[in-house]
Formats: sequence, C-alpha cells, structure tokens
Amino acid sequence: MTVPRLRHLLSIDDLDRPLAERILETARAFEEVGRRPVKKVPTLRGKTIINLFYEASTRTRTSFELAGKRLSADVVNVGGSSSSVSKGETLSDTVRTLDAMHPDVIVVRHAASGAAEYVAARIRAAIVNAGDGLHQHPTQALLDAFTILSHKGKLEGLTVAICGDILHSRVARSNARLLPLLGAHVRLAGPTTLLPRDAETLGCPVFERLEPALEGADVVMMLRIQRERLGGAFFPTLREYSRVYGLNRKRLALARPDAIVMHPGPLNRGVEISDDVADGEHSVILDQVESGVAVRMAVLYMAVNEPEPLPLGAS
Ligand code: CP
Repeated sequence: MTVPRLRHLLSIDDLDRPLAERILETARAFEEVGRRPVKKVPTLRGKTIINLFYEASTRTRTSFELAGKRLSADVVNVGGSSSSVSKGETLSDTVRTLDAMHPDVIVVRHAASGAAEYVAARIRAAIVNAGDGLHQHPTQALLDAFTILSHKGKLEGLTVAICGDILHSRVARSNARLLPLLGAHVRLAGPTTLLPRDAETLGCPVFERLEPALEGADVVMMLRIQRERLGGAFFPTLREYSRVYGLNRKRLALARPDAIVMHPGPLNRGVEISDDVADGEHSVILDQVESGVAVRMAVLYMAVNEPEPLPLGAS
C-alpha cells in the first residue's frame, strides 16, 4: 500500500482525504508529548526549521516554534521588522538567502495571498503555509478538525456553522475545503458585505443571518472581525454588528445542546462573541490552541520526509 506523503503544505487543496487523515493520526500520536514532564522527542534532531513571519501572530508562531523544539529540531525565528525586509529586501531574495543556509522547512506567514506558493517555487526547502493573505491557513483548519475529533469522535455527518467575517478569512476558506473532505457539512454565515461574491464556489450553503446557520449545528465556529483588513464600511458600528451577528447564549441555544464553540483567535470579545460564551462550558477555544502544537508537530515531521519512525516511547 502507498503511504500518502507530504511535500509542501500550501493549501488544503494539496491534501486528499487519506493524507489529511494521516496528518491527524500523526498529530494524535504526538499529542501526549506536550503533556509529559519532559516535552521532547528526538525525531527531527539535526534538522533546521525557519519560521518566517511577515505578519503578527501569537498562536501560530509560538506553536510552530514549540512544535519544532519538541521534535528536537533547530528552530530559527525571522520576523519582518527585525530582518533585512525592513531595509527593502524582496520576499524572493529573503527566502533564497535563507534557503542557502540549508533549512529543511521554512514556515511562512505573509499578508499577500499566494505568497507561500510563490516561495515554494523558488527554493529547495519544504514550505508550510502559516497563513497567506485572504487565501489559506491550512494548519489552522487541520487543528480545527483535530479539535472537533477530540470532542465529537468523528467528523462524518456533523454540521459545522462558520460565522462572521467570511470575506477576509483564510481560516474559513481552509475549513470550507477540509471539513467537507472529511465528511462534515459546513454552513457559512455573515452579513452580505462580509461574504465573498463567489461564496457559493466554496461549495457550502451560505446564510446572510446567523440564526438559520446555527439551527441544529454540532459545531459553531466564530470568526474574528478583521479590523486591520476592513478598509471600507462593511457594517454600521461594532455595537450593531454584535447585536445582529454576535454569538451570545440566546443564539447558541439554537445549536444542538452538546454543541462546541470554536474561534481561531484572537478574539474580539463583545463583538463576534460574548464573554460568557467564549469562557463558557461549550467553548473549546483553548483546546484548539493545544491541538495546534500537536498538528504542527505532525506537519513538520511529515514535511521533513519522516526521517525516523514515530518515537512514541522516547522522552
Ligand atoms: N489563529 C491564528 O492564526 O492566530 P495568530 O494570528 O495569533 O497566529
């Protein structure tokens, strides 16, 4: 039997179901490493990972760094403002310079859609997309799938309502591809102004109000209002947005009684989600953060061509 393998991870479109399932199974095997007293396995000893982040990040950058270090790789972080990017160096020159130092993987976050693919075409190292513009955030979708599996035991047949600023969300685009690939039914909901014109091409039913999308949902995934990308007037005020599109206890009651609430972070508390829901018994937001380390360990391990068997006994 052919084992599905990973080269670059640029988009969920790089994955078929067996490969996506293999990443999730590998992440499950790595999950307990983070709960050990000594959080390290020797799997990627002698390998080099560069995290190249041109955009701000707390969760993704920290979890990629921890993932690499827990696998015993040498991890180097390069930030846009602290590198020669601030002197005007191009993306192409920066990544070719880094590639000349023979890293095994470069993890890239960039504000331009397509940046990860652009980089992958120019260098030898494996590229992992940590979020490119409005395009894709594939490891976020994988960690979301992993978190749902942890709580529900399956994805097949579940209804997932993804709500909020769909237009600017690479998380929504990635989940709209991955979750149906794994058997879930995805609904997208948000104000007309924050839905992409081609929303139907994502292959999911689209709602202009939250309530019908929440009805009977197993999973409610709220999205951040991306204030930094809102150039125009997409809605009257944040207060009005919260009144009509915010998730509060009353709206959450439309979902199944055992529904879980997710959010990729960072949260705009009191805007797309109320405090009591974000911190309430349905919320699995911090579980998503924990899942992120295990999933990124799996992706890095597989991107480095799986040099050693899974070291499950090692510490
Ligand atoms: N979910 C996510 O990408 O968060 P960060 O921007 O903090 O990495």
